[in-house]
Amino acid sequence: MKTVLTGVKPSGQVHIGNYLGAMKPAIEMCSRDDVAGRLFVADFHSLISVREPKVLTEMIYDLAASWIACGLDPQKTLIYRQSDIPEVFELNWILSCMAPKGLLNRAHAYKALVDKNQQSDNHDQDDGVSMGLFNYPVLQAADILLFSADEVPVGEDQKQHVEIARDIADKFNRAYGDIIKVPNMDVKKAVTIMGIDGRKMSKSYDNHLPIFMEPKKLRKRVMKIVTDSSAPEDPKDPNDSLLFDYYTHFATAEQLEVMRKKYAEGIGWGYVKQDLFDAIDAYFEKPRQKYNELMNNKDELDRILSDGADKAREIASKLMDEIRVAIGMRREI
Ligand code: TRP
Repeated sequence: MKTVLTGVKPSGQVHIGNYLGAMKPAIEMCSRDDVAGRLFVADFHSLISVREPKVLTEMIYDLAASWIACGLDPQKTLIYRQSDIPEVFELNWILSCMAPKGLLNRAHAYKALVDKNQQSDNHDQDDGVSMGLFNYPVLQAADILLFSADEVPVGEDQKQHVEIARDIADKFNRAYGDIIKVPNMDVKKAVTIMGIDGRKMSKSYDNHLPIFMEPKKLRKRVMKIVTDSSAPEDPKDPNDSLLFDYYTHFATAEQLEVMRKKYAEGIGWGYVKQDLFDAIDAYFEKPRQKYNELMNNKDELDRILSDGADKAREIASKLMDEIRVAIGMRREI
């Protein structure tokens, strides 16, 4: 069995870019017989930027409900909140004592803020930097190492964080023996999904298509997808069409063939958009029902998450026992 672990920072409304780029592949990976999956809601990490309690609460549930609705099976894959695992914090401190400060000075998110301050002649290069932001990679290392993850499937943007986790694990092991598993990196060739304006899909550009948006609203957004100005009767190239790209992810093989023919013969963009909307709507219909059910039953979500946390803590506490002995805080048992 291979332990595959990943964490997701709650940020509200999962969109098609998140779904195709991260969720779907992770859910498929976790469903494999030879994989022990762990997926957690990285709510401690969110705290570096979210200041509204109600928003945070809602985003945590939204994230858990979205993953389960899209097919993550809580019976097979552990799903838990990071903040339900106190061992994460204990390890976080221990690892922070192993982590060279210089290593964290070079972490991208921190470095970007420092560079910005320096460029704007701010006399305080750490302006706007919290200790949470600075320590972010150490906390992430604790998340990963506590569960002896073999693999951490992440996108390009998280690669450095996994490298830092590997470095810190090495440092620990050199001092105390081979206690902590050094994870492999499984960097996904990022499937970059474009937004409705043709730039990378992102909430911050407001060009995203949320997967559980109410159908009427979603249709409106689909209708706004940018197209070229070719006339309806002009033949169109499916290899150079944002609409067709989206369609490949949600249509059946037959529907795709039909659409290819329509492209060759010429079709108005409005019709393509309608077909695309229908395909997306059909694809997410059942998951949307499940999502709504879960969001209307937070008790059930609490139960699933605390069940996951119980099982996760069982695993985590074994390694923590070993670590406490290894570092000399407890006698050999
Ligand atoms: N930093 C990750 C993100 O922003 C979330 C995360 C926290 C994570 N802990 C992790 C991902 C451990 C993988 C493994 O998406």
